[in-house]
Amino acid sequence: MAKDASACTRCRLAGGRTNVVFGMGNPTAALMFVGEGPGEQEDLQGLPFVGRSGQLLDRLILEEMNLTRDDFYITNTVKCRPPGNRDPLPDEIESCWSYLDQQLGLVDPRVVVTLGNFATRSLLGRTEGISKLRGRAYPYRSGYLVPTFHPSAALRGGGGVVAQIRADLVRAKEALAAAPLPRPAG
Ligand code: URA
Repeated sequence: MAKDASACTRCRLAGGRTNVVFGMGNPTAALMFVGEGPGEQEDLQGLPFVGRSGQLLDRLILEEMNLTRDDFYITNTVKCRPPGNRDPLPDEIESCWSYLDQQLGLVDPRVVVTLGNFATRSLLGRTEGISKLRGRAYPYRSGYLVPTFHPSAALRGGGGVVAQIRADLVRAKEALAAAPLPRPAG
């Protein structure tokens, strides 16, 4: 699927990208993070969350959950960089949805953490903002969805936002412990 996506021309974002940023990490992980879309560094390197907000996210995940990128899978709502880091448009999210939908199906995580408004609204199918939706775990597919702020909001918003992300990561850890174990194959 990544190879297929690397040649994708379904939406206008294809025209400005250096690389399709498909996703990285453990493809059979119990935990998956979904962000918004690649930024400049991600576009250049072809990997998700490798810039400043990604470094903050990695640190918070390590400190609150004791996990590294080998332990989870991480991807975005749109796989190509929106020009100038603008918000992804509804038709771009729609064009890219089948990739994310298939990633969710193949990885089949027990817990999905959505980072910010776009991932949270797309996956939960809700219209409220992240401040309203965060703070709880929602039943989702074969486990739970835990919404939290995007780490770039923490870079802008400071300690209060960081504290709420930390609390949500603890919530995700609890949801992992509570989610049913996958059925054995066959
Ligand atoms: N912001 C995102 O939402 N995703 C990335 O991969 C990088 C920054």
